[in-house]
Amino acid sequence: MLLHKNLSTNEKNHLTIGGCDTVELAKNYGTPLYVMDENLIRENCRVYKNALDKYYGGNGLILYASKTFCTLAMCRIAKEEGMGLDVVSGGELYTAFKADFPMEKVYFHGNNKTEDELRQALSLGVGKIVVDNIFELELLNNLCREMGKKADILFRIKPGIDAHTHDFIMTGQIDSKFGTAIETGEAFEIVKTASEMDYVNVVGIHCHIGSQIFDIAPFKSAAQVMLEFAARLKNELGVIIDELNLGGGFGIRYVESDDPVSYDEYIRIVSEVFKETSHKFGINTPKVIMEPGRSIVGAAGITLYKIGAVKKIPDIRTYVTVDGGMADNPRYILYDAEYEFMLANNASAAKDQRVTIAGKCCESGDILGKDVLLPESKVGDIMAVLSTGAYNYSMSSNYNRIPRPAVVMIKDGEPRVIVRRETYEDLIKNDLL
Ligand code: LLP
Repeated sequence: MLLHKNLSTNEKNHLTIGGCDTVELAKNYGTPLYVMDENLIRENCRVYKNALDKYYGGNGLILYASKTFCTLAMCRIAKEEGMGLDVVSGGELYTAFKADFPMEKVYFHGNNKTEDELRQALSLGVGKIVVDNIFELELLNNLCREMGKKADILFRIKPGIDAHTHDFIMTGQIDSKFGTAIETGEAFEIVKTASEMDYVNVVGIHCHIGSQIFDIAPFKSAAQVMLEFAARLKNELGVIIDELNLGGGFGIRYVESDDPVSYDEYIRIVSEVFKETSHKFGINTPKVIMEPGRSIVGAAGITLYKIGAVKKIPDIRTYVTVDGGMADNPRYILYDAEYEFMLANNASAAKDQRVTIAGKCCESGDILGKDVLLPESKVGDIMAVLSTGAYNYSMSSNYNRIPRPAVVMIKDGEPRVIVRRETYEDLIKNDLL
């Protein structure tokens, strides 16, 4: 049994994804190559949507967090699946717009939206703006006045929940750059200020406690804290919280030992907490908004590389070097992220070698996995890194002037290029002499 259900091996002992032979994909489209499985992405969207229907009467919206993997094709898929969209920059918003994504289902996040970005959002008719701080609130109110609009807003709130994940991707605690805290009274004050403004309309509150979380307990606590806060807003300010957005953060399996909760179960529990806690505090049950990103696309992607050197340093370690690295996947360097590695052209071989996978960037820290297991490998083998659908392409760079890989999307066993491979010409297209 391979890590994800869309992966298998064929009669040539090659790894397959979504029914396609990965060695063939590498041959036809080159390496490094991001490969995504559209069927699994759509299935993941439906798990969330169906659970929301089943446990909460569909009273809410599932947004796809586009920072995870944002391309025209992906925005199109999210649209077709009836999802909303979380965007955090003018660039993501522009991509959504170009993909004909319904703007009223777009939520605009970010802790420092620029004036230009806010103008862009207002003129495109973005559905909701998630306001981070008082400076943004004032700017938005002024822009709305100037543009003759009234914006529906939510507030980014720090519920004070400590989710057990990597420091850099933990966001719900008080010491975070995002949002305003309930604990300090700042969150209450910002809602009060907004409720007295003419050009914004408070519709909800939002929190996001972190990413790659395996435990349901912090989500439950966050929901309780946020509902209690919503009750206070109603009682003391007369502000009705129509939407409670709990953010994303649901973990996926990167390695065998990862044990993610079922998203269906997560929504079942959260729905119960919403109903019970709203009842307890005497408020109407708000719409539930969720923003999964990683759990929609993470497991649906793999990256294929070609092995260019196998360097055995006696009694120290073996470096297996691939034709990509930190430029297409900076997650090991940033978060010590773990991955599972396979030889795509010898998929069921026993993983009996402990090796370090190095990239081709001019930097010794450029590795994809340290002391990981792989079968005996040789130059020319195709290596697959699993679970790279989330935050790989979207965090890639041109470090060392390496062109970004292509992205191939597979649907019903048919591959198509959804992002073409960058060329050297692309690399210099903005340079001026
Ligand atoms: N909503 C908000 C407001 C967020 O900030 C995020 C992720 C999400 C939703 C989606 O979270 P997900 O379901 O994907 O966990 N680059 C890091 C992850 C950063 C997450 C940032 N915010 C990584 O590669 O692990």
